[in-house]
Amino acid sequence: MSGTKISVIVPTYNEKENLAPLLARMDLALSGLDWEVIVVDDNSSDGTHEEAFRLSQLDSRVRLILRLADRGLARASIQGMLSAKGNILCIMDGDGQHDPKYIPRMIERLLTDNLDIVSASRKLDEITDPHSLSFLRQKISRFGNFLGSRVIGRTLSDPLTGFFMIKRDAFMRLAPGLSDPGFKLLLDILSSDRHLKHAELPFDFGTRMSGISKLDSYVAWQFLTFLLSKATGSLIPAKLISFILVGVTGLAVHFCGLYAGLLTGLSFRLAQTLATLIAATTNFAFNNVLTFRDRRLRGAGMLLGYLKYLLASAFGIAANISVAVLTYERFGHLVVISTLAGIAIDTLWKFVISNRIIWK
Ligand code: GDD
Ligand code: MN
Repeated sequence: MSGTKISVIVPTYNEKENLAPLLARMDLALSGLDWEVIVVDDNSSDGTHEEAFRLSQLDSRVRLILRLADRGLARASIQGMLSAKGNILCIMDGDGQHDPKYIPRMIERLLTDNLDIVSASRKLDEITDPHSLSFLRQKISRFGNFLGSRVIGRTLSDPLTGFFMIKRDAFMRLAPGLSDPGFKLLLDILSSDRHLKHAELPFDFGTRMSGISKLDSYVAWQFLTFLLSKATGSLIPAKLISFILVGVTGLAVHFCGLYAGLLTGLSFRLAQTLATLIAATTNFAFNNVLTFRDRRLRGAGMLLGYLKYLLASAFGIAANISVAVLTYERFGHLVVISTLAGIAIDTLWKFVISNRIIWK
């Protein structure tokens, strides 16, 4: 393994307590190798970056990259990989679930078989400890793995693992095409170049040392919209898919509001207006936490954004209502068709406004 330098990139978000024990493990596992570790922290609130800085002063192989304005496991990892010195880049979690003792075996596999990537796959069938992965998470992970394998057109036992290594030259070639945030960097890498030579090495997924998991429903949502986007051959970006899916829930809200209004004796025009407003409100809320979470508006900014959203989409709302009323009057009181016609115009308008003005 002479001439090999390994850069271990550890993305962190609130992992202060876990850093020192992880480095101790790494020091043992990688003895005899030329290595460095880069901790990429997204401005954790628990003092992770102060701890990483302290450790970097004690050991020159340790480096901190602090990101103030961005959040995301994949984007943090990419940033670390781009700044690494090694010719082999290894990504691993900072919470102890990935044991560095597997790294030498992964390097050996990478080099002897002349591969581009080696990933360490969790043995999902064998995990019985709910502290490493809950029963529900195992089910979801398995389903995610199944969908993920379909998307990249390779059968992998764990395309969602966060523990893998890639040769730097291979990574640098495909890095410009990687922009998707979320937790699925390996999947993103493998689907961006089908000719990458890749192998899996099974490993025992450990238990988190301290703190809690950051994989939440938003991460799952990103994954879903990412897969749907890939299913369209990346023609429709994940954000637009998210916007449309939110729009579909708005549709349900709209019809509930509309029929509730009609049932309580409101005129069609008034019921339609109210339903449009209610649906615009729920759409705004969902888009704020799902579609545009990375540019999420809070507090006074959210209120202002909401008012801007209503104001800016007033044209769409007006168009919606007039198209709906017109169709309704022309085509013999077909509530469903007239409403759909109105909503189609409105949705198109709102996406343009949202992306350009509200969450710019
Ligand atoms: N910089 C940065 N920014 N790091 C993050 C962020 C973020 O927004 N979110 C999570 N991390 C870091 C965590 O601090 C940890 O070191 C690592 O990424 C993994 O996060 P966990 O929160 O521990 O993930 P998990 O254990 O629930 O999920 C596991 O399974 C996923 C697939 O199901 C991990 O192995 C993931 O890597 C894997 O993708
Ligand atoms: Mn974890």
